[in-house]
Amino acid sequence: MRWTVKAALLWLVCALTMAASAGDGPIVAARQASMKEMAAAAKTIAAMFDGRQAYDATAFKAAAQTLRMRTGPALIAEFPSPSLGPPSEARLEIDPARAEFEALANHIGTLASALAAKAESAPAAITDDMRMGAGLAMGGGSLLGKRSVAAETDPAKLPAEHILHLILQDCSTCHSKFRQRTE
Ligand code: HEC
Repeated sequence: MRWTVKAALLWLVCALTMAASAGDGPIVAARQASMKEMAAAAKTIAAMFDGRQAYDATAFKAAAQTLRMRTGPALIAEFPSPSLGPPSEARLEIDPARAEFEALANHIGTLASALAAKAESAPAAITDDMRMGAGLAMGGGSLLGKRSVAAETDPAKLPAEHILHLILQDCSTCHSKFRQRTE
């Protein structure tokens, strides 16, 4: 009887240890949940600007805050070295390319902070100056290509919709370099 209990306990400890060291442990689960929340937030904002979802200033604020809180240093902290590689989708290449990974996380963080600041004072209805293109018409940057505008313009000066597009570009850039799709 006692041996059965001991064996059961031993099995449980082994199972827990394996779960903790494998890529599907709590760190990975937390960062995947965090990424999903960012995806939902970005989708909400995009849908409000596209007219697929009714615009709501409070929902816009909440979604922009989600993006702000989950990027920058918070995003970096979600990828400690032992958690990289399969079975998670985080590539082992993150480690030797830390500087690039962190620069991307901080870049999207700066954009998300700018968007969150705009959302804080967002009006009750979408105004034209929040829309894509509004900043280019005013800013005199129309002769520059899209990329150089993004690189040289203070994101705070860009319309909210434009900032969202730059954020989505950073999501894709990081995924194409540092995410290994397993499904
Ligand atoms: C600096 C890099 C980086 C940035 C920026 C980034 N991601 Fe990710 N994302 C990853 C990595 C790496 C994974 C794989 C994580 C894993 O499987 O543990 C991932 C996974 C995901 C997943 C899948 C989560 C799951 O359930 O497995 C979604 C959805 C996602 N990201 C959405 C986004 C969105 C939306 C943005 C932008 C708002 C974004 N990500 C920005 C690196 C990034």
